[in-house]
Amino acid sequence: MRILVVGGGGREHALAWKLSQEAEVICAPGNPGIAEDVECVTVGAFDTDGLVKLCRDRHVDFVVVGPEDPLVAGVADRIRAAGFPTYGPNADGAQLEGSKAFSKDLMAASGVPTADFQTFTDPVAACDFARSKFAVGRQLAVKASGNAVGKGVIVADTVEVALDGIKRMMVDREFGDAGATIVLEDKLPGPEFSVLTIVGDKNFVSLPIAQDHKRAFDGDLGPNTGGMGTYSPVEWVTPQMVATVEDTVIKPVIQEMANRGISFRGTLFSGLMMDGDLASCLEYNVRFGDPEIQSVVLRLGKGFAQALFQAAIGQEITAPEVLDNASITVVVANDGYPTAPKKGAPITIGDLPSNAKLFHAGTSLKDGQLVATGGRVIGVSASAPTLPEAHEIAYQAVEAVEFEGCFHRSDIAASALT
Ligand code: AMP
Ligand code: GLY
Repeated sequence: MRILVVGGGGREHALAWKLSQEAEVICAPGNPGIAEDVECVTVGAFDTDGLVKLCRDRHVDFVVVGPEDPLVAGVADRIRAAGFPTYGPNADGAQLEGSKAFSKDLMAASGVPTADFQTFTDPVAACDFARSKFAVGRQLAVKASGNAVGKGVIVADTVEVALDGIKRMMVDREFGDAGATIVLEDKLPGPEFSVLTIVGDKNFVSLPIAQDHKRAFDGDLGPNTGGMGTYSPVEWVTPQMVATVEDTVIKPVIQEMANRGISFRGTLFSGLMMDGDLASCLEYNVRFGDPEIQSVVLRLGKGFAQALFQAAIGQEITAPEVLDNASITVVVANDGYPTAPKKGAPITIGDLPSNAKLFHAGTSLKDGQLVATGGRVIGVSASAPTLPEAHEIAYQAVEAVEFEGCFHRSDIAASALT
C-alpha cells in the first residue's frame, strides 16, 4: 500500500513515521525531519492540482491530509473528487474546526454538553455581555471564531482581561479575520482532556488518551499555546469516562452531521473539560492533536494504516493494536512562542538515547544547515514500559537539541509521576 501524507509539521512527521512501518509513505511537502524517515516531495499542502498529479504519477492508494487548514479549504474534497480515497473530512465537515460558531451550533442542535456561550460580531455588544457575566460572578473564555490554531482563546478571570481580549480580537485584529466573529463562553473549571477518534461511515474508534499541556510555561503559567507536551496513558481518564464521552459528545455530533448530509471520514478531536462529573465539550477539531499524536503513535502497534484506510473508503474500522507501554513528548519551542517566535536559529542535535524519537514540527534547511523556523520546533518523544522511564529518556533527549533561544517545559507528565 502506498500512502500520501499531506502536511509538514510534527503531526505529519508522527503520522508518516508510524504509517511507514506498515506501508510505503510519501509526504508532501514534509520537512527535513520527515525526509529522514520517508520520501518528501515539494508539493504544497494547498496545491490540490499538484497533489492529485502526485497521486496519479505515484499510484497512491490513499491520502491522509494532516492539518486543518487544507481541510477547511477543501483540499480533501478535491482529492476525493479525483478518485483517491482520502482520510480527512471535506470542507463542510471541517467547518467543525474552521468555525467555532458552526461547531457550537452543532453542539447545541445535537445536545452535546458544552459551556453556555454567545456569538458576537459587534465589539460593543460583546463588551456589554462580558460586563453582565462578570457582574453575576461568572468568568469567560474569549474565543476568535475563525481558525487560530488553539491560540485564539483568552481565558479571562477578570472583566478587564475579557474586555481587553475582545478589543484585541475584534478591533486590533490580533488574529486577523479569525477575530471578526467571537464566541464568549462561560469559563469551566477543568481538568481538561481530549479524545482522538478515527471516524468512518459505519463506526468510529477512539485512540489511547494523551494529556496535553497547553500553557507555555511550567506550572501551567503563561499564554495558551498549541500544546507544549503530552503523555500517555492518562490514568485519571478512565475507560468509563471515554465511553461516556463517546455517547454524549462524539456519537451525537456525527449523527447531526449525517442528518445535515455531511459525510465525515477523518479524525474527530474532542476537546473536553470536566465540569463536576460531566465532560463538557470545549471544541472539536478535525485532525489529530499535535503533540498528542506524537505520543499516541508511540503506543500503537499494528493496524493504524489499515484503520485510516478503512475510514477513507467507508468500511468498518478495525481498532489498531494498543501497546502496553507509556510515552511522552516534550516540545522544544522557539524564543517568543506563541506570541512572536524568533526564527532562523541553527539547530544542533547531539546523541540521542535509544527509544527517543524526534518529530520535527518547525524546522527547515538553509544552505544545508537545519534551522528553527516554527514556533514549536521539535517534539522530543520517548516510549518505555513505564511512564517514569519514558520521562527520563525524553528529558535526556531534550538536552541533545539545541538552538539559540530554545525553551521547553520541564514539567510534562509531572503530575502523573507523583
Ligand atoms: P480551544 O481552542 O477552544 O480548545 O481553547 C484553547 C484552550 O483554552 C483550551 O484548551 C482550554 O485550556 C482553554 N479554554 C477554552 N475554553 C474554555 C472554557 N470554557 N473554560 C476554561 N478554559 C477554556
Ligand atoms: N494540542 C492541541 C491541538 O492539537 O489542538
